[in-house]
Amino acid sequence: MSIKPIILIPDPILRVHSKPVEQVDDQLRGFLDDMLDTMYDAPGIGLAAIQVGEPLRVVTVDVSPKAENGQENDDAAEDIEPAKNPIFLINPEIVWQSDETSVYEEGCLSIPEYYADVERPESCRVKFVDREGKQQELEASGILATCIQHEVDHLDGVLFVDHISKLKRDMVIKKFTKSAKQDGRKFIG
Ligand code: NI
Repeated sequence: MSIKPIILIPDPILRVHSKPVEQVDDQLRGFLDDMLDTMYDAPGIGLAAIQVGEPLRVVTVDVSPKAENGQENDDAAEDIEPAKNPIFLINPEIVWQSDETSVYEEGCLSIPEYYADVERPESCRVKFVDREGKQQELEASGILATCIQHEVDHLDGVLFVDHISKLKRDMVIKKFTKSAKQDGRKFIG
């Protein structure tokens, strides 16, 4: 298990277009496991490789309800792990989006503690390669569809704040630019 540092805005690497994965091998699977550990540790429901500095078209997602949010685990022993349902999307491609839209309050591990309503297609279909190298297709709706669209955006250097008003976006970018300067944070991009 290896938890990687998550890159924050305004690091320019978050604007990079990630490259397709050419081979699904043990090295990639190890990297996917590290991404998943990093995502759970944050904690978050989605992570794109570029957020840990790898410009590869891979995403991890898990929108399953966690123990702390659920009622069903209230009486369970403390050492029982919450149900996990990770999805690994390699070279994901959104091939269909519904006309119907929905609004969710989104956040992003690269923009900590900032949340804003974003309107996106309510459902989508995504083609991807799984961690065994097999081509798959998944139809998603609700929070899963939102999460997948948010993560696939990252692969093209798009952040959820690009979907909100310019005024709000400029404010949040300015805030993070200021705190990066204060921290003396080094950008890797
Ligand atoms: Ni994000």
